[in-house]
Amino acid sequence: MSQKFAGVKGMNDLLPPHIETWQFVEAQARQAFAAYGYSEIRTPIVEDTALFVRSVGEVTDIVTKEMYTFEDKGGRSITMRPENTAPAVRAYIEHGFAQVEPLTRWFYLGPMFRYERMKTGRYRQFYQIGCEAFGAADPAQDVEVISVGQQFLKRLGVTDVVLHLNSLGDHTTRPAYTAALTRYFEPFAAVMSEDAKITLAKNPMRLLDSKEEALQEPISRAPAILDFIDDASKAHFDEVRRLLDGLGLAHAIDRRLVRGLDYYTRTTFEFIYQPQGENALGTAGTVCGGGRYDRLVKELGGPDKPAVGFAMGLDRLVLLLEALGKREASRPMLFVVTMDGPVRDHAIKLVMALRNQGLAVDFDPRGGKVKRQVERASHVRARYLFVYGDAEHQGGQVRLKDMDLPEDHPKKEQQVALAELARWLTTPGTHP
Ligand code: HAM
Repeated sequence: MSQKFAGVKGMNDLLPPHIETWQFVEAQARQAFAAYGYSEIRTPIVEDTALFVRSVGEVTDIVTKEMYTFEDKGGRSITMRPENTAPAVRAYIEHGFAQVEPLTRWFYLGPMFRYERMKTGRYRQFYQIGCEAFGAADPAQDVEVISVGQQFLKRLGVTDVVLHLNSLGDHTTRPAYTAALTRYFEPFAAVMSEDAKITLAKNPMRLLDSKEEALQEPISRAPAILDFIDDASKAHFDEVRRLLDGLGLAHAIDRRLVRGLDYYTRTTFEFIYQPQGENALGTAGTVCGGGRYDRLVKELGGPDKPAVGFAMGLDRLVLLLEALGKREASRPMLFVVTMDGPVRDHAIKLVMALRNQGLAVDFDPRGGKVKRQVERASHVRARYLFVYGDAEHQGGQVRLKDMDLPEDHPKKEQQVALAELARWLTTPGTHP
């Protein structure tokens, strides 16, 4: 008996025509990062589980609830990457980049895995485009990273985004803030779940990410970390803001922006899609998240190197572009209708020759009725069409039909010499 399979829940097939939007977004990312001097890296899908536990944080949602972790045949605990900052840092240390170059700027693109509750724009296999810049502690580096993100979004034509900005201070800030949060949240312990109580004891900052109903009101009034940051971090934050202003990069201070991962120090930021009207992304409006993580390289056994980066949700960007109608699927330039019989060999040869010159040319390999082939040409939305029969072959001329023009348009059909066809189709201005 045959069995029918469905894809794994939360993991999507990326198929035509949507794949073209994906490719468009990826191409724009590559161009944006190239202009800023970032090189691509590709790290494995799986890493040692401990890498994520140590970096993302033991009591984060990602580590406690969302990781795809398994034991391999050698008995090692392996995790499918839920994010790519930790793998990038691991690779940066392992391959000794700090020793050979003072500044290292990388970008990446690929699937990440989190066992999340699914909804629009939130999946279990999703894709990130991200970057990490190692070696510079200067505010100018934070701003460069933010700027490449903003430029990339601009290239995509996504403008209704607001840059949210905050600072988490340095390693001295966290203990003071944690103590204040503990004091603040303790009276609410009675309404907390057992999990939340553990979070309160282990890492109260992560309570700010809690979705528990009873905690939403207390969370909204909790102390803000920005009031606890040290003077040097405050000066850093002010300089980041000054530089952003200088570049015309508008931003909103978001005192609640602590991010769901533990490695951040100083600057944190998100780009959030906030249109005037309808929101195609619903609650999945955060298209980008990032920040500085000056201690992570050292904590993972590397040299003392500052770093800053971000990751964008590619699935969300694609959803957004498609909802905004920003992308049109590509179409063949020409469709050649073939006639059965010996002349068909010539038609196929011509199709292949034009294709080999880089033109998008289609035909129906099944041959057969002209009517069905013309229907096929409309289906693939070919711009031009002609029939290649004995008369055309012998006369060396075809009647090229512009499928975009109305039937009664004077230029609907034009006579073009077969020898001129490639030039005619590729030279702008020679045809309407
Ligand atoms: P993150 O905020 O966890 O940060 O993820 C970054 C972005 O990935 C989110 O803003 C969102 O657009 C997208 N994203 C996250 N989870 C999902 C999901 N389940 N489905 C669809 N999209 C999702 C990080 O991952 C950090 N590594 C960013 C970073 C890089 N910080 C410094 N360097």
